[in-house]
Amino acid sequence: MPGFDCHLFVCCNRREPGHPRGCCDPEATGALKAALKEALKKAKVPGLARVNEAGCLDQCEYGPTVVIYPQQIWYGQVTLADVPRIVEETIVGGKILSDLKIPDECLNTKGKVPWRRGDAT
Ligand code: FES
Repeated sequence: MPGFDCHLFVCCNRREPGHPRGCCDPEATGALKAALKEALKKAKVPGLARVNEAGCLDQCEYGPTVVIYPQQIWYGQVTLADVPRIVEETIVGGKILSDLKIPDECLNTKGKVPWRRGDAT
């Protein structure tokens, strides 16, 4: 049986309101994970892709965060409206969405390097 071609890890971490780092799923709905799963089911994805719930991915300041492995594509400030593009353009089409990509120089800085979605990468 073939292995997965990619995993989409979706941060579903929840912290108490007012936490200085915030969190990716403050209402604990798992809505982003569920939407990605549903969209993947409907898409004609080449190979095998799987959505996995993740705890904190340590990019909280840029969340909600999704990381795609093994391609190592980090997306930040992801909304439900982004789900179709992530599936169709990135997972099916292989295109990195520059408006959602957290730049490498921001990763693991605990937000010390400012970034907002749509900033040039
Ligand atoms: S809470 Fe989502 S990356 Fe930390």
